[in-house]
Formats: sequence, C-alpha cells, structure tokens
Amino acid sequence: MVNLKDPCHPMISYRRVQPSDLEVLEKIHGDLFPIRYESEFFQNVVNGRDIMSWGAVDCSRPNEKSDELIGFITARFVLATESEIEDLVSLDSSKSNQTLVYILTLGVVESYRNFGIASSLIREVIKYASSIPTCRAIYLHVISYNNPAIHLYKKLSFHCLRRLYNYYFINGQHYDSYLFIYYVNGSRSPCSPLELVMLLVTYTKSGFKSMAAKLWKNEDRKISKLRKCKSGCLLPMVENKTTLSLEGTWCQSV
Ligand SMILES: CC(C)(COP(=O)(O)OP(=O)(O)OC[C@H]1O[C@@H](n2cnc3c(N)ncnc32)[C@H](O)[C@@H]1OP(=O)(O)O)[C@@H](O)C(=O)NCCC(=O)NCCS
Repeated sequence: MVNLKDPCHPMISYRRVQPSDLEVLEKIHGDLFPIRYESEFFQNVVNGRDIMSWGAVDCSRPNEKSDELIGFITARFVLATESEIEDLVSLDSSKSNQTLVYILTLGVVESYRNFGIASSLIREVIKYASSIPTCRAIYLHVISYNNPAIHLYKKLSFHCLRRLYNYYFINGQHYDSYLFIYYVNGSRSPCSPLELVMLLVTYTKSGFKSMAAKLWKNEDRKISKLRKCKSGCLLPMVENKTTLSLEGTWCQSV
C-alpha cells in the first residue's frame, strides 16, 4: 500500500490523524518500528482517545493517495508528578496539574525522508504543548543507534538528559535509549548540586560587594560632612557609636 516511488515535487500538508487513516497508520508503524503495537493503540490514535496525533500527506499524489499518510507523530499528556522525569523538570510545588507531553511514535515513509517532514511534525507538537499553560516539557526516548532521529532532536534543540541502559528489549537483545527533553512555557531543568553551589558562591560574593559598597558610601558621606565642618560649618550630628568612632578617626588624620 505504501509503496512509493521517489517523490519529485511533493506538496506536503499537515492535518490531524483521523479514523480513515487506521489501515495506513498500522502499516507504516509495522514497516518502520521493530516494536509491535497493539491494535488498541491505533484505535486510540485515530479516535483521539488520550493520544494526540498529526499526520503529513502529499497533496501532489494522484486521486485518493493525495490524502494518504506519509508521516505521523503521536503523543500523549502525562501528569508531571507521575512521570519518570519529575526530577528533570523544575515544577511549581503549589500546582498539582502540571503536565508533560510524551512523544510515543514518529515516522516518515522512506521515500519522503530528509524533506523536513519530521521536523515540521515535531514543531506542531511544540506549538501545541506551548499553547497549554500547564505544560512544562516534551520528552521522548530514542534507541541509542538511531542516528537520524538523534540528529533531528538535537537540531530542534531537544536536550539529551539521560542514557538508560538496556531500556529496550527487542528480538532477544537489549539496547540502550537516550531520553530527550524540550522545555516549554519558561520551564527548565532543576538546579544540579553544582549549580546550587555556584549560586551560593555568587550570592555570597554579591552580598559582600553590596556591604562594602554601603560602607564606602557611608565613608564618603561622612568625609563630605566633615569637610563642611572644617570649613566653618556646624559639627556633624552623631548618630551612633560606630559613626562616632569612625568620624573621630577620620578627623584626627586630616
Ligand atoms: C527519524 C525520521 C522520523 C526523520 O524523518 P525526516 O522527515 O527524514 O526528518 P527531517 O527531514 O525533518 O530531518 C532529517 C535530518 O536527519 C539527518 N539525517 C538523515 N540521515 C541521517 C543519518 N544517518 N545520520 C545523521 N543524520 C541523518 C538529515 O540530514 C536531516 O538533518 P538536516 O536537516 O540537518 O540535514 C525518519 O528517518 C524515520 O521515520 N525513521 C524511522 C522511524 C524512526 O526512527 N522514528 C524515530 C523514533 S524515536
């Protein structure tokens, strides 16, 4: 069914995945992934049950093919506090409804690759996630040898935060995965212990600086007051003992 010759002048457009995409969607998943998905998964995708999905079609293809999927992305919302990456996102502890978008599957039919279709599909997800104020990030797993996908996520400014050893078990063999994340709505990763130490050092340094600046300012004020006093004005008002001793010292040295 999805046996495409090299497309010369594709005209790609994007839309939501719909029930009529069921057969093609299952076929492309079967062709592209080493993992088998249950038919319930596809039903949920095409009916939008807990899963969001976008598809790409080539309008330049003849007749009914012009609306046949040649690429797709599927994702779902998860509660941030119930996700495996709770520790990788800075969360507002006063809000319990913060969410993340988890990308489940992404694929483009081989003859349509390197046209930027997957990039556009991911951008759709980013746009959508960014429009939901409670959403903090988008994340996904990718098998460690999938260089085109890894290149793609890095190009789109996803951060690789973890390597998960033996995450996948496919055909009797273990494979590692990378966890990629894209922060939205001003979110970021929480401070690492090193960052906390750096923050403390910066804070202490700036504290010392402002204290020194205040003392210096006080000295200046007192000097100018005493200069006035030297030129025949009234003696400065003494505010406290420290001021007195400072002023006294200064007066003697002039
Ligand atoms: C990964 C996949 C979705 C990319 O789709 P696509 O539409 O070709 O992606 P784009 O055209 O937006 O971007 C592809 C990028 O990968 C680069 N790329 C292609 N092959 C590559 C390779 N072997 N190594 C590194 N980068 C590669 C391209 O040069 C391009 O980057 P550029 O824009 O900087 O030149 C597609 O290859 C695919 O369906 N693979 C099988 C399913 C899959 O692995 N899905 C991801 C699961 S996490």
